[in-house]
Amino acid sequence: MTAFDVRPVTEDERRSTFDLLSRSLHGNRVGDEPWARFGSSWPAAHKFGAFDGDTPIGVASSFDTEIAVPGGGVVPVAAVDGVGVRADRTRRGVLSAMMAVQLAGFAARGVSLAVLHASEPTIYGRFGYGSAALGKTVQLPRPAARLHERVPAGGDVRMLTPEEAVKEIPGLYQRIGLRRPGMIGRPEVWWPTAHERHVDRDGDHTVVVHSGPDGDDGFAVYKTVEQRSLAAPDEGAVLKVRDLHTTGPVARAALWRFLLSVDLVSAVHARHRPVDEPLAPMLTDHRHARTLAVEDDLWLRPVDVAAALGARTYRAADPVVLAVADRTLPANTGRYEVGPDGTRRTDAAPDLTLDVDTLGMLYLGQWSATALADAGRIEVHDPAAAARADELITTVTAPWCGTLF
Ligand SMILES: CC(C)(COP(=O)(O)OP(=O)(O)OC[C@H]1O[C@@H](n2cnc3c(N)ncnc32)[C@H](O)[C@@H]1OP(=O)(O)O)[C@@H](O)C(=O)NCCC(=O)NCCS
Repeated sequence: MTAFDVRPVTEDERRSTFDLLSRSLHGNRVGDEPWARFGSSWPAAHKFGAFDGDTPIGVASSFDTEIAVPGGGVVPVAAVDGVGVRADRTRRGVLSAMMAVQLAGFAARGVSLAVLHASEPTIYGRFGYGSAALGKTVQLPRPAARLHERVPAGGDVRMLTPEEAVKEIPGLYQRIGLRRPGMIGRPEVWWPTAHERHVDRDGDHTVVVHSGPDGDDGFAVYKTVEQRSLAAPDEGAVLKVRDLHTTGPVARAALWRFLLSVDLVSAVHARHRPVDEPLAPMLTDHRHARTLAVEDDLWLRPVDVAAALGARTYRAADPVVLAVADRTLPANTGRYEVGPDGTRRTDAAPDLTLDVDTLGMLYLGQWSATALADAGRIEVHDPAAAARADELITTVTAPWCGTLF
């Protein structure tokens, strides 16, 4: 058994814990120059380390930001962004201990929601996180994929220099706003790593901005990856879209039109796009919007169930009573009435019983209660209640995060 303590990371331990994280994700130790550029993305604040003596063997980090929830509200959220355990100390409870301390910290600070992206989908359910928003991977062949004549032409698309991108994109993302449930704010601490990945390190990504009648209203970040080889001498590059956000459909169409127009490219590939982004109907041939995968994107944990349920709105239907079980944060265990007029704790008999991670799956509207009941994740006491919960909780627009952290 490994003896270890979990405690906050100090200022002096920032770099060693970052290296630990990087190595656990099979990355490199960070050099002095890149650290000088993006080390500010790894502050000591909100980081817990597991230490064997003075040596870090695990780290769990988070930053505070905001998330859009169904109904248009934007509420504070803790975004869990750096979790790793040294490979020779895994499966000994290090992550479990760090998660317990981190969640207790969120609860003590009054954080009602926590979110993360999972490297593997089997890790976080036990800590109360549920797969709350999906993302799709699409590939469009070039030059076959063409936009339908009805798709708006949009305005001008211009390419930024790396320096312009660093200056302009954070403000543009903020102006675009959190337009879908699941989208999160990108605080200052988020950007240095993104700039490092996209434009600083090798300057190997391209950033383009669309301008409409009211000015800049969308951007895309992409990279072209050469596919040509001796075996495939005529193969064009694959254009990989890393980030694409717009205020609306015209800017989105213009950016996709641009991406599909780049020469010497045989396919445009984009991961983690909204599952309901209407790419197929935007094309003359639906089949050219190939969905290669639909994966879990954002995981969500209601930290304070009453506050979390009260932060979003519900559509019109008779209320349902949810009995929620939470082993890690037992204060959440209880019954909650959810209806169009609000939510409250109740002693009434439950209609549906579920674990807190399953509530996380329902929260942004991605999954219906009926589907989760069919999957065995919700126990149904009143047969009509699952359909009622669907009317209340599901959303018209699919949730989507669109920010990697
Ligand atoms: C994922 C990781 C942090 C888990 O840390 P850990 O200290 O081994 O986790 P714990 O020992 O606390 O495991 C708790 C439970 O989760 C299970 N578990 C942990 N990691 C798992 C994994 N990758 N797949 C399946 N189950 C896993 C353990 O078996 C254990 O189950 P049990 O409670 O039934 O015994 C660690 O394996 C790691 O650093 N992996 C590489 C980096 C990474 O993927 N980080 C996550 C980024 S989102």
